[in-house]
Amino acid sequence: MKNLGEPIKLNSGITLKNRAVMAPMTNMMSFFDGTITDNELDYYALRSGEVGAVITAATNVQEIGKGWEGELGVYDDKHIEGLSKLASSIKKAGTKSILQIFHGGRMTNSSILRGEQPVSASAVKALRSDSEEPRALSEEEVLQVIEDFKAAAVRAVKAGFDGIEIHGANTYLIQQFFSPHSNRRDDQWGGSLEKRYSFIDQLVNGIVETVNEYTSEPFIIGYRFSPEEYENPGIRMEDTLYLVDQLAEKPLDYLHISLGDFRKSAQTDEENEQTILERVHEKINGRVPLISVGDIRNGADAEEALHNSEMVAMGRVLLADPHWTSKVLSGREDTIRTTVTAEERNELKLNTGVWMFMQAMMPDRIK
Ligand SMILES: Cc1cc2nc3c(=O)[nH]c(=O)nc-3n(C[C@H](O)[C@H](O)[C@H](O)COP(=O)(O)O)c2cc1C
Repeated sequence: MKNLGEPIKLNSGITLKNRAVMAPMTNMMSFFDGTITDNELDYYALRSGEVGAVITAATNVQEIGKGWEGELGVYDDKHIEGLSKLASSIKKAGTKSILQIFHGGRMTNSSILRGEQPVSASAVKALRSDSEEPRALSEEEVLQVIEDFKAAAVRAVKAGFDGIEIHGANTYLIQQFFSPHSNRRDDQWGGSLEKRYSFIDQLVNGIVETVNEYTSEPFIIGYRFSPEEYENPGIRMEDTLYLVDQLAEKPLDYLHISLGDFRKSAQTDEENEQTILERVHEKINGRVPLISVGDIRNGADAEEALHNSEMVAMGRVLLADPHWTSKVLSGREDTIRTTVTAEERNELKLNTGVWMFMQAMMPDRIK
């Protein structure tokens, strides 16, 4: 493998031992209040040690930001004890541990929130059949969300993580501020592209400053984004190229695109045949490392994705085969497990939540 096995030194000074990263994947294994379970620790430990870094499942920074049952929490100091066990179980054989922090915004419901109405940038329902109308956050509440992201970052430092990933992708609250579909505000947080970006700007600056004030130890801060939305209005490639242009100027360790297929070109901009990955990588132009993702199944895929990124993230392949990385790096790709049987579930630490998700969303990976 050309690049995959090469270490990479990030802006914070932390070096990843190779360019393979475990993509953040929700596993729905936590207790009802967001504390970690032993099953979850085992699930991560099995997938650590070979990849350069593990990015955890999304963890909610506010109680009202909870997106689904079984979600890991980082909204209270009570989570620090469990999170430090998680950081230790990931930090095996040099693998770095990165906690993904997020807020679900309108992508949740009042049952998950135990009767509370979901919140968002504006009172606009998501375009899906079971969505509920959220309540628009007040100015004071917007500032509190930023404070709570900062508090979550400090908890990640206290728990011994090597870094955090700010989850600005996959339609959750941060993306809801950037999207012209979910953000119809006419105050300082909405109305133009620049104003829709201002929440992300203040959030990232706030987190970077808070972490720098809190610790002098190197700490990774990454940012994940989704490049396009299909809603009208919605995020288009020109919005995304503006976003990455701004973020590339910040003292971040990496940007992480969220794609289902790394070879995809923009669906909302059919005239341009370049892949989304290529366009984003070109715009960044070496200012900050980019993590690519999306159906990378073997070494050749990883090598191809590394033409337009500095690191690659893998999700589903690591559910089926936790030893994917060492097999690819040592030329034993023929031994990679690509499908899982019900009998292999325990051995692979695939608990009910993640197994149900696999059955519903990825039947091709189940034998
Ligand atoms: C079970 C599952 C859970 C996921 N949960 C998250 C998540 O919590 N945060 C996130 O940013 N992406 C999440 N994703 C998206 C993955 O990070 C990744 O982008 C996607 O699976 C494509 O990569 P792959 O083809 O290698 O699986 C999830 C994907 C899967 C399959």
